[in-house]
Amino acid sequence: MSEQSRASFGGKLSAILVAAGSAIGLGSIWRFPYMAGENGGAAFLLVYLICVFVVGIPVMLGEFAVGRATKLNAVGGYRSLSRPWRWLGYNGVLGALLISGYYYIVAGWSLEYMVSSFSGLYSSGVSFSEQFAQFQASPRQAIYTVIFILLTHLIIIRGVEKGIEKASKVMMPALFIILIIMAVRVAFMPGAGEGYRFFLSPDFSEAFSADTIFTAIGQAFFSLSVGMGCMVTYASYFKKENNLTSTSMSVALLTLMVAVLAGLVIFPAVFSAGLEPAEGASLIFITLPEIFKDMPMASVWSAAFFLLLTLASLTSTISFHEVLTAYFAEEHNLSRKVATRITSALSILLCMLSLMWVFDIDFAGIKIEKISCFEIFDYATANILMPLGGLLTCVFVAWWMKPDFLRNEMTNYGALKGRAYPLLRFALRYVTPLLIIYIFIKNLGLF
Ligand code: PHE
Repeated sequence: MSEQSRASFGGKLSAILVAAGSAIGLGSIWRFPYMAGENGGAAFLLVYLICVFVVGIPVMLGEFAVGRATKLNAVGGYRSLSRPWRWLGYNGVLGALLISGYYYIVAGWSLEYMVSSFSGLYSSGVSFSEQFAQFQASPRQAIYTVIFILLTHLIIIRGVEKGIEKASKVMMPALFIILIIMAVRVAFMPGAGEGYRFFLSPDFSEAFSADTIFTAIGQAFFSLSVGMGCMVTYASYFKKENNLTSTSMSVALLTLMVAVLAGLVIFPAVFSAGLEPAEGASLIFITLPEIFKDMPMASVWSAAFFLLLTLASLTSTISFHEVLTAYFAEEHNLSRKVATRITSALSILLCMLSLMWVFDIDFAGIKIEKISCFEIFDYATANILMPLGGLLTCVFVAWWMKPDFLRNEMTNYGALKGRAYPLLRFALRYVTPLLIIYIFIKNLGLF
């Protein structure tokens, strides 16, 4: 695709908005509390915070640099800079494919909850965990998944990303506001204090397990949409005046704020309602209704929240759909329309696989009963493909490419001062990759 025919995002704010739109979504609001709940709460929060700064921001900057410098999709971008590195792009395409294989399912849950806020969620008298289980056992789950994929498809095919960009300007502040209202509301719930302790006061007497750090790094990659070419693809639509450094920092901070707010809402409510923080993937769907149920106009608040969560998920699904669509269109010379169709069809296929296939693993000493494709796709992307992609991005940007590459992209060829350049280059060369390697090795149990 020629440079002229490529769309570009508007100004500075748009760059931040679209990248934050990709980052902020189920990762911060659904996955973060679920992971924190299973991994010790406050300890997890602390490690996650460190990972966002030490790993997330440098890798995001590296991806921005590649995307804007080449103005190409993930595969084409790396390839045009150095042929063998196209494999890093393929890693991203595979990651986007696997994320598509389960993210839409959870997004569909949000859509269902928005609708059922008015139709029974609060009036059926059945416990919220029972209602969630019933929903998962019904065909509605698959239907909502497909609806979500079609919604994403329509937005991409109509090229109404601009509309989404505009909607984000209203949606994101609204999401913040409703989360703040909910955070204030839960503070008054009896027994909330236990939740704050769980989420905010780390227990240093217990050693941080390698597993906690591994999970937190994975969460940082996932929630910031880095390590899989998504930010390469998005930055390919950035303008040459955009300040990549401040954009990556703003996006990371906004995402972090949403995740922390989500934790401040969920954990007090979990303890107040006598639920388990390590509930797993259903955590927010059985906890949040507990907050709304005693509020005046419960259905309205609940529907408003799940609407915002649905929209936040939509700006994320658009972004990984776009990684695949841009790849098919540009690398296989297909029209955007056909590329979009292929991507959506693959997404439906993989999601159905995730919904239907549960099996046991008994291989090479690993025994896991009843594991689903859903869990495998999630684990493979967040804990393996994305950190691997992040590691290779560091090596590529800070070791393979000449120093000028990063400096030029960070300073916009001398127009900006780029004061953070030495620090970020140092991080990209040593700190970030070594941390990822260490964690990989540690987790494989090699020492
Ligand atoms: N960051 C998104 C979220 O938190 C998920 C995502 C991952 C989007 C990777 C694009 C690429 O919901």
